[in-house]
Amino acid sequence: MYVLGIESSCDETAVAVYHTTKGLIAHTLYSQIPTHKEYGGVVPELASRDHIRKLVPLIKTVVADAQLNPSDIDGIAYTAGPGLMGALLVGAATARSLAWAWQIPAIGVHHMEGHLLAPMLEDNPPAFPFVALLISGGHTMLIEVRGIGEYHLLGESLDDAAGEAFDKTAKMLGLEYPGGPKLAELASLGQERFKFPRPMTDRPGLEFSFSGLKTFTMNALHATEQSPQDKADIAFAFQIAVAETLSIKCKRALQQTQLKTLVVAGGVSANLVIRQHLQKMVEKEAAQIYFPRPEFCTDNGAMIAYAGSQRLLAGQTQNLEIFARPRWPMEQLLSLCSG
Ligand code: KG4
Ligand code: ZN
Repeated sequence: MYVLGIESSCDETAVAVYHTTKGLIAHTLYSQIPTHKEYGGVVPELASRDHIRKLVPLIKTVVADAQLNPSDIDGIAYTAGPGLMGALLVGAATARSLAWAWQIPAIGVHHMEGHLLAPMLEDNPPAFPFVALLISGGHTMLIEVRGIGEYHLLGESLDDAAGEAFDKTAKMLGLEYPGGPKLAELASLGQERFKFPRPMTDRPGLEFSFSGLKTFTMNALHATEQSPQDKADIAFAFQIAVAETLSIKCKRALQQTQLKTLVVAGGVSANLVIRQHLQKMVEKEAAQIYFPRPEFCTDNGAMIAYAGSQRLLAGQTQNLEIFARPRWPMEQLLSLCSG
C-alpha cells in the first residue's frame, strides 16, 4: 500500500511516499525559515500562504521521484493537529480534495504521534512497549507507549517546551530564529563556567519546567560583558542543564514503568549533547535507546506517511470532513485495535 504523507502544521511543508512493505520511497521538504527569519519567529498567516504555494508542487515532485503515477497511491495521511490552524487547514483541504478526486481513503494524523513513530522508519526499529520522550518546539512529554494509539502520559512541561526554551534562550543570546540548532552550535564553543539549575529534579515526579532557565540566562548575561565567549559559556551551561534534566527524568520514567526501551523524538532530539547524555544514562540502566535519523527528528512528511499508513492498514479512515485540530491531546487517539 502506497501512502502519501503531508505535513504542514508549522513552518515546514513536507511530503513523502511510504510503502507498507517496501518502506520509505521518497520524501522532500521545503523550509519556510527564510520567510519568518526577519520576524524572529513563525508568522502564522505567512506560513499558511507559503504552504498554499508550495504543497501541490511538492506533491507532484515526490510522486515523480517515487516513479509513481497518482493512480498508484492507495491512501493519504496528513497532519490534522496540533499546530497552526491556517497551516493545518492547507494540508487537510489538499489531502481531502486529492483523496476525493483519486477515490482513496485519507486520514488525519496527530503530529506528535508522527514524531513518536519516526524511529520506526529506521533499519532497527524499537519494539513496543517503550517509554517515549517527545521534545519539540511545542511539546515536552514522557509517554508510556504500549502500542500505536496506546499512550499514557507520564509527565509533561508545566510551562515552556524544551524547543521553546532553546529558541527563547537563543534569542536572548542574540541568535537568529530558529534558535535551537544555533544555540547548540554556539554551546560547542563554550566551556564549563556557569552552573544552571536542573529544574524540578529535586522532587519526585515526571513533570518538567524550563521557563526558569531564561531568568538564569538573563542574570548570567548581565553579570558579564556579553563577549562572544561569555555567550558561548552561557549556551554551554543552558544546554547541559536541559540535557541533564531530560536524562534524570527519563531514568525515572524507565524505573517507574520498569521498561527497558527509551525512544526519543521531536526536533530537540537532533541535539547531539542531549543524545549523548541520554545514551550514557540508558547504558547505566542496561536499557536501549532509539532516535530517528537527524533529518526525521524535526518535522518531515515521512513520519506522517508512516503513522497514517499504520492506521489505514488497520482500516481506520475518516469521513469527508476537513478535519483539523490546533489542540489535540494524544490520549484521545484511537488504539490500532479499535478499528
Ligand atoms: O519537532 P519540530 O521540528 O517542530 C515542532 O513540532 O515543534 O521541533 C522544532 C524545535 C525548535 O524549537 C528547534 O529550535 C528545536 O526543535 N531544535 C533543536 C535542534 N534542532 C531543532 N534544539 C536544540 N538543538 C538542536 N540541534
Ligand atoms: Zn514537530
